[in-house]
Amino acid sequence: MKTPIRVAVTGAAGQIGYSLLFRIASGAMFGPDQPVILQLLEAPIEKALKALEGVAMELDDCAFPLLKGIVQTSDPAVGFKDANWCLLVGAKPRGPGMERADLLKDNGRIFIGQGQVIDAVAAADARICVVGNPANTNCMIAASQAKRLPAERFTAMVRLDQNRAQTQLAKKAGVDLTAVKDIFIYGNHSPTMFPAFAHASIGGRPATEAINDLPWLQGPFCETVGKRGAAIIAARGASSAASAANALVDHVRSLVTPGAIHSVAVKANGAYGFDANVWAGLPVRTTTPGSYEVIHGYAMDDFAKSKIAATNKELAEERALVADMLS
Ligand code: NAD
Ligand code: LMR
Repeated sequence: MKTPIRVAVTGAAGQIGYSLLFRIASGAMFGPDQPVILQLLEAPIEKALKALEGVAMELDDCAFPLLKGIVQTSDPAVGFKDANWCLLVGAKPRGPGMERADLLKDNGRIFIGQGQVIDAVAAADARICVVGNPANTNCMIAASQAKRLPAERFTAMVRLDQNRAQTQLAKKAGVDLTAVKDIFIYGNHSPTMFPAFAHASIGGRPATEAINDLPWLQGPFCETVGKRGAAIIAARGASSAASAANALVDHVRSLVTPGAIHSVAVKANGAYGFDANVWAGLPVRTTTPGSYEVIHGYAMDDFAKSKIAATNKELAEERALVADMLS
């Protein structure tokens, strides 16, 4: 039996938490032979902590063989102690009519304190994944607080956007989802994100040939993927939760699977013309469990370049907006 890993999850009593924790404890995230200890962190609010107790009771009642312990706390120093993975979900979701960036002032500050505590108490091999919106910029804020953990350990989630794009391409082409390969998300987790359809393949052919409808790919496809979160809020009255939890399972699963190629928001370091210091969705290849390299060299046509410039501009503007939160 492997040694259990410690997985800290913030916002554990929230909507995403309620879908996520059971998948982690079942082995879907780290594999069927990897025991886990869940370190559940909630805001110091009586109602949230009470709800967390209920979630922990339900986890107990699942009798998951891989679940070796549950910590419940509102103290980040306890929640992140020795954590190998820190999944930062806890933050306010947007409501109808809001953009994710509208959450910056409310949510950004959470990531200052959490970044500092993670840097101080998490395990030496800690990996941090940010889901709370606006995810790219919150991730940048958390990473900026770290003196010990390097910036590449901090990633933000654009996997939900990749999954959405894959399904939209499959539906349009009338093929099974699994026929769609290599669709990657560039830039911000916002309507400016760019799903780079020109590099995708469908049934072994370029997506642009299999679909043969450039106006649809450049227009409704990009728009549907970019605005899917708002469409779900309009339909459900609440932001996506089960699909977001599923995407986080995919994000981490791919990050612990050497050879996996997937979209992750990482410190851009100038790749594809992004500003060096923003966190942008990019294609990565997992090298060793938890580590990755950015895949360079995909050719970008004028349309792609203009989309990347637009999403980079938004990321740079968000960075300027939170300049006082960066260390
Ligand atoms: P929710 O309101 O149901 O749950 C959030 C939980 O976080 C609450 O229980 C709250 O008490 C807790 N929380 C707040 N501040 C905290 C803190 N400082 N420490 C610990 N816990 C704290 O929201 P949700 O639907 O679970 O969504 C959570 C976040 O994820 C939102 O910001 C949402 O916009 C974002 N989200 C991101 C993606 C993505 O693809 N990146 C997808 C869906 C949702
Ligand atoms: C999503 O993409 O579904 C989430 O980021 C929630 C939102 O605010 O859109």
